[in-house]
Amino acid sequence: MHTQVGIVGAGPAGLLLGHLLHLNGIDSVILENRSREYVIDRVRAGVLEQGTVELMSAMGVGARLQAQGLRHEGLYLSFQGERHHINMAEHTGGKAITIYGQNEVVKDLIDARIVTSRPLHFEVENVAVHDVTSECPRITYRSNGRDEQLTCDFIAGCDGFHGICRPSIPSGTLTFYERSYPFGWLGILAEASPSSEELVYTYHERGFALFSMRSPTITRLYLQVPPEENIAHWSDEAIWNEMLARMATKDGWKPNVGPIIQKGVTPMRSFVAAPMRHGRMFLAGDSAHIVPPTGAKGLNLAASDVLVLARALREFYRGGSTEWLDRYSDVCLRRVWKAQRFSWWMTSTLHRFPDGNPFDRQRQIADLDYLTGSRAAMTSLAEQYVGLPLEVPLSSVGIA
Ligand code: APR
Ligand code: PHB
Repeated sequence: MHTQVGIVGAGPAGLLLGHLLHLNGIDSVILENRSREYVIDRVRAGVLEQGTVELMSAMGVGARLQAQGLRHEGLYLSFQGERHHINMAEHTGGKAITIYGQNEVVKDLIDARIVTSRPLHFEVENVAVHDVTSECPRITYRSNGRDEQLTCDFIAGCDGFHGICRPSIPSGTLTFYERSYPFGWLGILAEASPSSEELVYTYHERGFALFSMRSPTITRLYLQVPPEENIAHWSDEAIWNEMLARMATKDGWKPNVGPIIQKGVTPMRSFVAAPMRHGRMFLAGDSAHIVPPTGAKGLNLAASDVLVLARALREFYRGGSTEWLDRYSDVCLRRVWKAQRFSWWMTSTLHRFPDGNPFDRQRQIADLDYLTGSRAAMTSLAEQYVGLPLEVPLSSVGIA
């Protein structure tokens, strides 16, 4: 079988790319090694930048997002027992973020893919890419007990950090930039109505904590914990005690407590692979870069990468120009590095570092004090949090 673009991975990157290509009349086959239920149920982050919301709406996949997403025009930074509000809309000419779970995004995109009748195969095994530096790259895989081969014009490696596309590139070809952090996040979903309408990022001497939500009845909370922390060591009672110890403020605000319906530990890492291309294979999203979740940028970077890739493929198929394919990696990496810097800065400012001394902690407090008292600093935070401009306009992929 042949397709124009073989897409490995049905996360946000692969599904968004498939739909953008569909809207431009370009064929693709999406191959995913997990089951449909698994990718829909997998709990991930949930903050969409203004530009990601506009992209999904322009693509015609924003109906449920518009109806159920929670638009937030501000956020709180909490330290020394006090919450400080930052009005993002006021500092960005009316921009905001929308809380909408990544798994809901994935569900909407799978539904949209099915309506197009274009191929999306779940539970495929032994996915491997071949001849990516030739004119005719191939993907081999096993599906329903049969070995299959897909020849492609291009391959999109949208298979996340643990996928096979990036590792298939010969060693020495890419440069890796990496930083790991001496902590992870323990995250829970709880059946409790959110006690704040907006997110609360807390710096506390016991460690960072984050108050978020998924809906008017579900609260999403995170705690800084040691890296590789075993979730089995945390009873629900211990989790709530620690959440309350870190988040409760002097004015009496605290999260509402309720049954914990999901819990897990997320590692924290900053990672970039460059360039995001090898021959006719293009890496997009987490397969090329990882950010720590503090800046809430992972899903949004996946969206901005595939927008650039869709533009490049559209130009190629319309007029044979490879100019945008050749620029793909450089254009994406400019935005990726700014998001990396922001995510690293949010992480460094808000977490307690095991080797931090009293000087470091006073410096962090001063950073937060400045941030919540200076218009210039609030504007800088707000414009990055709601999302820096996309590198290409939506009109360049024919959807605006
Ligand atoms: N073959 C096919 N599919 C694979 C393979 C493989 N060998 N390996 C991984 N996959 C699939 C995964 O099961 C997953 O569904 O690729 C998909 C990659 O999706 P994500 O990890 O969600 O990555 P991406 O689409 O780039 O989205 C980035 O995901 O990790 C979060 O915080 C991150 O929000 C960001 C977003
Ligand atoms: C979430 O709601 O899952 C969330 C919110 C903000 C973050 C990270 C995760 O920075």
